[in-house]
Amino acid sequence: MLEQLKKEALKNHVPIICDEGLSFLKQVIEKHKVKDVLEIGTAIGYSAIAMASFGCKVDTLERHELMIEEAKKNIEYFHMENQIQLIAEDAITYKGPLRTYDLIFLDAAKSQYKRFFEKYSPHLKPGGVVICDNLSFHHLDPTKVNRHTRQLLRKLKEFKAYLKEHPDFETTFHDEGDGMSISWRRI
Ligand SMILES: C[S@@+](CC[C@H](N)C(=O)[O-])C[C@H]1O[C@@H](n2cnc3c(N)ncnc32)[C@H](O)[C@@H]1O
Repeated sequence: MLEQLKKEALKNHVPIICDEGLSFLKQVIEKHKVKDVLEIGTAIGYSAIAMASFGCKVDTLERHELMIEEAKKNIEYFHMENQIQLIAEDAITYKGPLRTYDLIFLDAAKSQYKRFFEKYSPHLKPGGVVICDNLSFHHLDPTKVNRHTRQLLRKLKEFKAYLKEHPDFETTFHDEGDGMSISWRRI
């Protein structure tokens, strides 16, 4: 069933987490008995529905109207309304209530990762982790892309340096998917 949702996303060019990235998330969820997840960037709900199927309760933020509509439909189709709370807001400006989370999954605008990290990491439970996707951004060569993409690659490089140097987090970087990081809050 989830396979069907993946096919739909690929057909409509909706970027969703790749299989390797999803199995990385699954491993972390199972190994660390993750229950509560905050996701930034729902798209059509694929990764949120997958994480809910692994037993998590997911709050997920999305700002794009068409995506919100599709995600709502898909969450209903999978009968996951009790497990997934879709917050139809821009994650940069969102000021509404949040819970505390075992896992925060950053998968929205790559240029804003640092802002998302700073804004949402205070909502981690003790021992919680932040996972970021697409840090390698398709392994593009900065000398062979346009100015906009070059800026994005520079921002991602800066964000990785920020994670490496963050005094409150221990971060490891992984080749899975499109490059993922996992940051543990130091106790
Ligand atoms: C890569 S897709 C998310 C894919 C999804 N996590 C999955 O794997 O199924 C990124 C999504 O983040 C959304 N997004 C980007 N910036 C955002 C923001 N500031 N607030 C909320 N959503 C945002 C985009 O509209 C897009 O749908």
